[in-house]
Amino acid sequence: MNTLDINSIREQFPILSRKIYDKYPLVYLDNAATTQKPRLVVESMSEEYYNVNANVHRGVHFLSQQATDLHEAARERVRTFLNARSTSEIVFTRGTTESINLVATSLSRMKGIAGNPEIIVSSLEHHSNIVSWQLAGFRLCVIPMDDDGGLDMEAYRHLFTERTCLVSVTHVSNVLGVETPVSDLVRIAHEHNVPILIDGAQSAPHRTIDVQALDCDFFALSGHKMYGPTGIGVLYGKETWLDRLPPYMGGGEMIKNVSFEHTTFNALPYKFEAGTPDYIATTGLARAIDFIEGIGMDALRAHEEDLTRYAVERLSGIEGMHIYGYNPSTGQMPHGVISFQLGNIHHLDMGTLLDRLGIAVRTGHHCAEPLMHRLGIEGTCRASFALYNTRDEVDRLASAIERIKSMF
Ligand code: ALA
Repeated sequence: MNTLDINSIREQFPILSRKIYDKYPLVYLDNAATTQKPRLVVESMSEEYYNVNANVHRGVHFLSQQATDLHEAARERVRTFLNARSTSEIVFTRGTTESINLVATSLSRMKGIAGNPEIIVSSLEHHSNIVSWQLAGFRLCVIPMDDDGGLDMEAYRHLFTERTCLVSVTHVSNVLGVETPVSDLVRIAHEHNVPILIDGAQSAPHRTIDVQALDCDFFALSGHKMYGPTGIGVLYGKETWLDRLPPYMGGGEMIKNVSFEHTTFNALPYKFEAGTPDYIATTGLARAIDFIEGIGMDALRAHEEDLTRYAVERLSGIEGMHIYGYNPSTGQMPHGVISFQLGNIHHLDMGTLLDRLGIAVRTGHHCAEPLMHRLGIEGTCRASFALYNTRDEVDRLASAIERIKSMF
């Protein structure tokens, strides 16, 4: 049941009233790649650039202190959003990818990590959660899945060895929209005394995240996928783990004392924040959280799930349609994304022709080539929803697909 005033929400996103090719009203269904930004976010950032801008943590002057206050207030805003215990556990990064690279690199440098160290990942992972570990010298042990993206939890239990350093799994697949059984994944990892990282890039924008309830050791998210600016993300880490990990990059605020012979490092979270942070983007991220919470995460989620169900209903009625991650016999529904293939129409042709009708979707392997190999396909066409999308837009998508089908 939709209780949101979608028209007034849409008015906060000027881009949504654009005409594509000067003709078709934009239907933006590429939200899993990045969401559009509301005025509140963009204007708060302009306001800070115009009136407050100064480097943070470094100046005794008025502007620097004001900019520092805004930056640290943003960290507190993220802390409450994730229900972390302390702001020491909130590290600002450039996004989910950098958050995972940070953990991978630091973990590889930790004392005691040697001799073919292993990371457990799932078959659903994005390249960020594969390549980061490979670059840092880890071997990947992969949790197998069934054709609908369900993880084989029995196989998972058998992947743990004395070389397992960490489990790193997605919360929601960016391709299939499948939610992984995180509480079981966390519990089983902890039964083996192994920490676990949750890739929350596709979950944090759509549901309430409580890192204490999840009991994960690390959680990564990207600001730009949740109405915030590009280039800002978060790594949540339990203080005990962040304390043990060595720094990631050197310079800036991450030091305590430096000499040519020896350097000591700053307290958390600054130990992981080398260089001038993107303090304008942290404000933008805080305003994006205000925006989401002003609407209410529960209402947002209900609206997006209604749209997804409606899209599944409309699209599955088209002859030759296959929707990945949807199984009518088990009732499995994707969360917020519809990856589909229609007959033998190539996903790139489908995406290109939808674009000609003003509909923005993503095509290809969605940065998940191993998942594509598992499914035996090269790619899909993916429509992904945000809170400003409407049932009318789903109808336009369905009619456009019907029209394209008739052309083949
Ligand atoms: N990872 C982003 C996506 O799924 C870019 O589209």
